[in-house]
Amino acid sequence: MTRFAAVALLLLLASSLSVDSREIPDDLIRLPSESSRFFRPHGDDDSEGTRWAVLIAGSNGYWNYRHQSDVCHAYQLLRKGGLKDENIIVLMYDDIASNEENPRPGIIINSPDGDNVYSGVPKDYTGDDVTVNNFFAVILGNRTALTGGSGKVVDSGPNDHIFIYYSDHGGPGVLGMPTNPFMYAKDLIDVLKKKHASGTYKSLVFYLEACESGSIFEGLLPEGLNIYATTAANAEESSWGTYCPGENPSPPEEYETCLGDLYSIAWMEDSDTHNMRTETLRQQYEQVSASEVKRRTANGNSAYGSHVMQYGDLELSKEHIVLYMGTNPANDNYTYVDENFLQPPAKAVNQRDADLLHFWDKFRKAPEGSTRKFEAQKQFLEAMSHRMHIDNSVKMIAKLLFGIERGPEVLKTFRPAGQPLVDDWDCLKTLVRTFETHCGSLSQYGMKHMRSIANICNAGIREEQMAEASAQACVTIPSGHWSSLHKGFSA
Ligand SMILES: *[C@@H]1O[C@H](CO)[C@@H](O)[C@H](O)[C@H]1NC(C)=O
Ligand SMILES: *[C@@H]1O[C@H](CO)[C@@H](O)[C@H](O)[C@H]1NC(C)=O
Repeated sequence: MTRFAAVALLLLLASSLSVDSREIPDDLIRLPSESSRFFRPHGDDDSEGTRWAVLIAGSNGYWNYRHQSDVCHAYQLLRKGGLKDENIIVLMYDDIASNEENPRPGIIINSPDGDNVYSGVPKDYTGDDVTVNNFFAVILGNRTALTGGSGKVVDSGPNDHIFIYYSDHGGPGVLGMPTNPFMYAKDLIDVLKKKHASGTYKSLVFYLEACESGSIFEGLLPEGLNIYATTAANAEESSWGTYCPGENPSPPEEYETCLGDLYSIAWMEDSDTHNMRTETLRQQYEQVSASEVKRRTANGNSAYGSHVMQYGDLELSKEHIVLYMGTNPANDNYTYVDENFLQPPAKAVNQRDADLLHFWDKFRKAPEGSTRKFEAQKQFLEAMSHRMHIDNSVKMIAKLLFGIERGPEVLKTFRPAGQPLVDDWDCLKTLVRTFETHCGSLSQYGMKHMRSIANICNAGIREEQMAEASAQACVTIPSGHWSSLHKGFSA
């Protein structure tokens, strides 16, 4: 039985994992200090205004190690850049450092030989306080809207600069959260508009790592809000985890999880090593983008990897990064020049498969016949069965609603670039809630179906029809952690 299960696992894994290859890193070029002085711009330094940052990891669970690790790394970077603790607000579930799976208790790393990025990270909003509501209240600086947490908010003024960094799973038009409900793009954009209307910032930069992250801003973020956003992926593709088991470079042997995400690692390793007074947002965007292009071409398959995107007021990208992240004085002599540090095209794992990779690696390493091996197998199979249940249910609902032939077509429809994925967000929310009521939580993996549900809305389907089709399609919900109703969109 165990051998059979192992073979089955291997086959499932081989068919669902998306892994590609990597090249050798280029070296940093170190310029003499004279040229660094020459490159130093005037006028946009820290002369006025305060730098604020909001850092948020939208997941929990050890298999999602990398998102909280990314956020901790960002915190260290900003501190070295000169931002103060009082101006950095961190939202993370905080279940990694002391997780029983963590081979180095109390320590979080974001690269194979990286330092501990966990030390000193403020615990502003942790556990069940990492909510959409608190995230929005933090951005808006509205203390009365908070529930729990440290009470720290972006208490900014008109001359201030704000940096927001989010790392997690996502799907078309949505971002994950470690708590219920998840976050809809429309609500986030409304919060940004409200922040702008309150006149409490000069400019705002948003870096977003998630699958289909382009869909959060595409056709939704207007120009004129003084917001510049870049995303790990366009509106239609996955983003990628990196430093994963079995890769090169791989995490230390005892880690059975990916340590970081590709886009996040790319911008942070760039910011870690350069003088941010000499590098513009645009240059960083190009660096990160180039690393993805290089990786795609190295692999020879354009389906592997994502397209880094930029949205909003692109004029802002001429600004130097120091305005948002500060700069580490130790990098003063490391000046940015075009292409001087082309990020190594890291080998990567599709974000959506990183949980399977964790269970597989755990299974592979556990001693034959051990409880641990059995547990890993169970987790893997539960995750797979949840995936199949969700995929099949969505397909079946579409067939029930539109017929055998038209159903699959409706699901596969993509709107032209520049258009948001749905016009009526309330319809989308209602249909998602209806689906989850009958079919169980979409959970992390199921977010990939948001476009399908949006298409069902766009085709004019309303709540009662959706309820009827969902009830027919989902007679049973597989039991287990992955299908439970404790994580999803339904508040
Ligand atoms: C702050 O949040 C509270 C509670 O949600 C709300 O009633 C109030 O209008 C908000 N204040 C501002 C300035 O938006
Ligand atoms: C930069 O170079 C100058 C001149 O060589 C040197 O005095 C200074 O200590 C260097 N700064 C750093 C941070 O390495």
